[in-house]
Amino acid sequence: MTSTVTVRSDSQFARNVVSYAGALGERWLRDLPRRIEELANHWQLTDITPFENLSFNFVGHAMRAGESVVLKVSWDNAAIQREHSWLCHYAKYTKNMVVPVLSTTEQDAYLMTKLIPGTALNRHDEERATEVLGRCIRALNEVVAPMSDEDLFPSTAVWFSQLQVAGDASKQALGEHIDRAYAISRELLQSTDMRLLHGDLHHANVIRHGDHWLITDPHGVMGDPAHECAAMLRNALHGLHDGIANGVQRRVSQLAATTGLEAEKISAWGYAQNVLSCVWSLDADPNADIAPVMAVVDALYSN
Ligand SMILES: Nc1ncnc2c1ncn2[C@@H]1O[C@H](COP(=O)(O)OP(=O)(O)O)[C@@H](O)[C@H]1O
Ligand SMILES: [Mg+2]
Repeated sequence: MTSTVTVRSDSQFARNVVSYAGALGERWLRDLPRRIEELANHWQLTDITPFENLSFNFVGHAMRAGESVVLKVSWDNAAIQREHSWLCHYAKYTKNMVVPVLSTTEQDAYLMTKLIPGTALNRHDEERATEVLGRCIRALNEVVAPMSDEDLFPSTAVWFSQLQVAGDASKQALGEHIDRAYAISRELLQSTDMRLLHGDLHHANVIRHGDHWLITDPHGVMGDPAHECAAMLRNALHGLHDGIANGVQRRVSQLAATTGLEAEKISAWGYAQNVLSCVWSLDADPNADIAPVMAVVDALYSN
């Protein structure tokens, strides 16, 4: 079986991989067509077609024995295995909540069901999308299940410790936000009921499959349940027709009502996590455009 997948070196995807993974990323990109061919043989895949707008991983749909499947391949083995373990964990304890996993290499790739029609929540009406995300967060939070491999998932404390080593571009652009976000994370983590979070639960990662909205693409991190709301606050900002400040406040209120989590905690984690998100962007690319996320940070600042 042959695959003919090519990746343009000037694509945003290739640039992202190189800015985050450096020389390892360059090698991985060079080797990717060969690796995809190997995986196609391993899983008997045909017609592998990359999705548009890839960001950090190779994701493509394919056919396997008459069934539509999706292949995801990463340069970061630990991250893709966390992702796979998170999906298997929640598949065990929920119904129609997460994308079904079909197989894994236990290294750099896994295979999942292709979600059909596959429309993401960012194509949806703002209020309804927030409602769906709130319900997802509540449902995940209701799972009280033993974790067999807790060591696999880092704590958000590890994420926030990265604020202490933020690069010059981040320090210049974010100033006092960095210390403030770090202090908030430390304070809130002292009284946290740590749970296994998705860690990147936003509109593009919740996808329609038949009658259900299924969760995809988890980071897998241990943290406070209210932290889970932070990723969606910076996404799909085009839906906020009366401005980012009003829209973000409305999202916080709606999420609090749907999830039962405290609005103050949602705001505080939203602020801290979105400062961290700006630092991640600027540390990877000092010219990254953080203006939209900074507008969200500003909207949450006064809370
Ligand atoms: N199982 C799936 N079924 C249908 N589409 C999918 C599936 N998994 C991913 N996609 C599509 O591929 C895109 C990228 O996948 P994702 O896992 O979110 O990758 P990344 O980690 O790069 O964000 C998604 O936004 C979605 O459009
Ligand atoms: Mg994604």
